[in-house]
Amino acid sequence: MKLVVLGATGSIGRQTIEVAQHLGLDIVGLAAFTGGAPFAELARAYADASLALIVPPDDELSSEIGRPVAIGEEAVEELAATRGAIVVNGVVGVAGLRASLAAVEAGNRLALANKETLVAAGELVLASAGRTGAEIIPVDSEHSALHQCLVGERREDIRRIVLTASGGPFFGWTTEDLAEVTPREALRHPTWNMGLRITTDSATLVNKGLEVIEAHVLFGVPYDRIDVAVHRQSIVHSLVEFVDGSSKAHVGHPDMRIPIQYALTFPARAPSLAAPFDLVGTTLTFEEPDTVAFPALDLAYAAGRKGGAAPCAFNAADEVAVEAFHADQIGFVDIPKVLEAAVDAAGSTTLNSIDDVAAADAAARAIAGEAVRSL
Ligand SMILES: NC(=O)c1ccc[n+]([C@@H]2O[C@H](COP(=O)([O-])OP(=O)(O)OC[C@H]3O[C@@H](n4cnc5c(N)ncnc54)[C@H](OP(=O)(O)O)[C@@H]3O)[C@@H](O)[C@H]2O)c1
Repeated sequence: MKLVVLGATGSIGRQTIEVAQHLGLDIVGLAAFTGGAPFAELARAYADASLALIVPPDDELSSEIGRPVAIGEEAVEELAATRGAIVVNGVVGVAGLRASLAAVEAGNRLALANKETLVAAGELVLASAGRTGAEIIPVDSEHSALHQCLVGERREDIRRIVLTASGGPFFGWTTEDLAEVTPREALRHPTWNMGLRITTDSATLVNKGLEVIEAHVLFGVPYDRIDVAVHRQSIVHSLVEFVDGSSKAHVGHPDMRIPIQYALTFPARAPSLAAPFDLVGTTLTFEEPDTVAFPALDLAYAAGRKGGAAPCAFNAADEVAVEAFHADQIGFVDIPKVLEAAVDAAGSTTLNSIDDVAAADAAARAIAGEAVRSL
């Protein structure tokens, strides 16, 4: 099986490569942003893989890599369109969208960690997959859990979906407590080890908001039947309740190698690198999210319900806000204010093309930039 890994140097990318080694898959393409030494190391380990970077490598990196690297967004899209490959998209941000589309348009299976693809351009990407027959298998642990709960089930039999959330490092904190949060504190996630943006988004609950929109797009369930429960142990990865009163939950260690492997082997399963899981001695708790201290979750629902450019704006504004927070330009509690400004300004007309999405993304970034400057 041929595999292309986009965002190969990131948290998802590195774990994908571990899984691919374990399964004995053939890595035929690797892409990253600037890449750096970790990319050079991968390039040497996979001497036959085609390589792409967004930023051209300097002389030192070029010599470490030791062979040609294709440069730019189109080069990454070309890798994503490799005939017959499974494409794992572990790029961070809406920057991953065009590569997702390229994979789907080529009819490739898309193992999708880049949730921004579905938040910003869900309808476009699903329509393209419908035309080409490409499969989109989610890698996000919650959506992988839902996918697994829904195999063999009819969509009309779903009563509701419950996405679980760890609650992040500031669970139980008040708005006053959160006013003092530093970027370093926001990067201390209790259960998952992930990249900077998603870790910050887990602390604000923006990540859960993005996941609510992702679940709506992927599974076609209306927003009023998607709920979120805070589950500190991150053992139940999500749950589907059916009309007959039965519920199915997906349970296991918080280990991303499990959903990554599932997206590669589905519908089959194979022994994985994850430690065996034992329920005995495990205590599971579930609570309502605090939407007063963490208003970003309600904002995501509002953006999803508004539709059109609003989900794309929610994501774009968050990319701007997270960067500003880590540059000490705004405080932690300012992040939702930036998102609100962009969601309020977004139009509700359907985005019909990738150019529409790019325009909505740019407009939201401009509004978010203004909001950051005014705070
Ligand atoms: N980490 C997790 O456990 C987890 C779980 C669920 C979902 N996700 C989702 O998976 C995605 C990746 O998250 P992550 O935590 O793995 O992020 P990360 O550790 O920050 O890694 C991001 C990767 O994307 C690359 N990249 C950035 N911009 C790019 C571009 N324009 N074109 C191509 N590559 C680009 C980076 O390359 P450089 O190294 O060169 O900068 C890096 O390889 C996000 O959408 C996140 O929400 C992650």
